[in-house]
Amino acid sequence: MKVIEVSAPATIANLGPGYDLMGMALDSPRDHLRVCLAEGGKDEIEVEGIGGDSISAVPDLNAAMVAGRAVLRETGIRNRSLKMHLKKGVPPRMGMGSSGASSAAGAFAVNVLLGKPLNEMQVLKCAMEGERASCGAPHADNVAPSLLGGIILILNYDPLEVMRFKPVTGVEVVEVAPVVKLADNKTKKAREVLPSAVALATVVAQMSSFATLLMGVANGDPKTMGSGISGDRIVEPARAKLIPGFFEVKRAAIEGGAFGCSISGAGPSVFALSPAGKGTEIGERMKEAFMSAGVNSSFTIHKMSEEGAKVV
Ligand code: HSE
Repeated sequence: MKVIEVSAPATIANLGPGYDLMGMALDSPRDHLRVCLAEGGKDEIEVEGIGGDSISAVPDLNAAMVAGRAVLRETGIRNRSLKMHLKKGVPPRMGMGSSGASSAAGAFAVNVLLGKPLNEMQVLKCAMEGERASCGAPHADNVAPSLLGGIILILNYDPLEVMRFKPVTGVEVVEVAPVVKLADNKTKKAREVLPSAVALATVVAQMSSFATLLMGVANGDPKTMGSGISGDRIVEPARAKLIPGFFEVKRAAIEGGAFGCSISGAGPSVFALSPAGKGTEIGERMKEAFMSAGVNSSFTIHKMSEEGAKVV
């Protein structure tokens, strides 16, 4: 029986206006996944760790298992089963790419166990199946940075094509997690509140923000990147209604000196791009703003990371 242990990092998807198109890997936390490839038998998964009791251990519903199975299917391997042990480090349903980290870990681990028959884009496609199982939509803006590290731009979904950028330096990422009631299928619900059509003027403004974000990332310029992050005109206004005090928290971050601020992935966490060394002060301000809206919260400070999924 072959065994491997891998880990995959938390991510922040969208980065403001880059809905389903951009995401970045964080230095921590990570999901850890141990996988055994057995002859015959049934797929099985055990889940423990942060929020592990809220993650399904039914193989068909578990992102890591669904992604791992996709690799077996893609490589035409039958009569084998996967025994997985998932230790969650990325808190589920908070907007830090929890299902993406599990999916990336699942696809990555099985591909390595098999001797890497699939290339990066094929593994990414398999990891996206984990996202499909989690929220119904196989988007790549969490799984791609969790798998590959760095900041990822999805150039195209069909055929799948991504571009990877180095982390922007001289910054900290402040992640503020509010204590709010979460729907069971949080990401699916957060996608359902989005408008199905928008006015041309809104599209033009959104393109301007996305271009600003992209130029900031490509040039390693945190000020421009932050300005882009703050400029989402479509997704953020719709989802802000799900996060009490969001606009006050965003204002507190910007007035506190953050380069930019928006919803972390599908929320409810809010993230800010802060100058290095100022993250704690900005996090305290954001926490206070949540408190003024009657919401408890806590914050953590991160760095962007080059490192995606890896064997441990
Ligand atoms: N792009 C996704 C969304 C990320 O915003 O719904 C969360 O999974």
